[in-house]
Amino acid sequence: MRIVKVRDYQDMSKKAADIISAQVVLNPSSVLGLATGSTPEGIYQHLAEKHRLGDLDFKDIKTVNLDEYKGISKSHPQSYTYYMKTKLFNFINIKPENTYLPDGDNEDGQLECKRYRDIIQRAGGIDLQLLGLGNNGHIGFNEPGEAFEKEVHCVDLSETTITANARFFYSMDEVPKQAYTMGIGNIMRARKIVVVVSGKEKAEITQKVLFGPVTPKVPGSILQLHSDVTVIADEDALSLTKI
Ligand code: GLP
Repeated sequence: MRIVKVRDYQDMSKKAADIISAQVVLNPSSVLGLATGSTPEGIYQHLAEKHRLGDLDFKDIKTVNLDEYKGISKSHPQSYTYYMKTKLFNFINIKPENTYLPDGDNEDGQLECKRYRDIIQRAGGIDLQLLGLGNNGHIGFNEPGEAFEKEVHCVDLSETTITANARFFYSMDEVPKQAYTMGIGNIMRARKIVVVVSGKEKAEITQKVLFGPVTPKVPGSILQLHSDVTVIADEDALSLTKI
């Protein structure tokens, strides 16, 4: 793992956007694995700005997102589909038919997981996967458990995650309890991985993910075994990590 310590959220966003930009320039038909959450928002702003300035062309880029809530429609403002459109896709020249997310409207879990797994496979796998870190160490929606789930699956969200997500919804009842997510295998097969972490509230989990035992109880810890991971973390996120 390469750990890049930066000063703050702004620096983290800029650094990660630079790495993704390099990927797009060097291989204009890359498959990018994208993430949602508050952490990547700044990165997407930088990418949109670089595109506006004429420095980045997404016309042959494909994207596959990590996850999507189950039981929420694509037009719901809290769906990850809506997030991706309003934070990135609407501002760059990516072809809508080249952007993929699991379909939260599909009630048939088995069918949806197979459909999404096939999409990733048909795209030829992921060249660069961007990852945030959940408060409990989850990556995508791979929640802490007894074993690493390898393939795309439907997951029951943990209490910590449901509580963390509640801030985005009007009431607790509205907060989705399930999601579709890439599995650990899909993520680990990405050729390159960039992890972004920011803030004091992530300090404890960052330490465990980077230097704790590799265990499904801290899903992100598996990244220690990948051969090309860059972690971009700010001083707050690294405040409990000695590097
Ligand atoms: C959600 C997403 C994760 C993301 C996490 C952290 O649970 N499924 O992919 O990493 O949120 O979000 P934030 O960046 O807002 O802390």
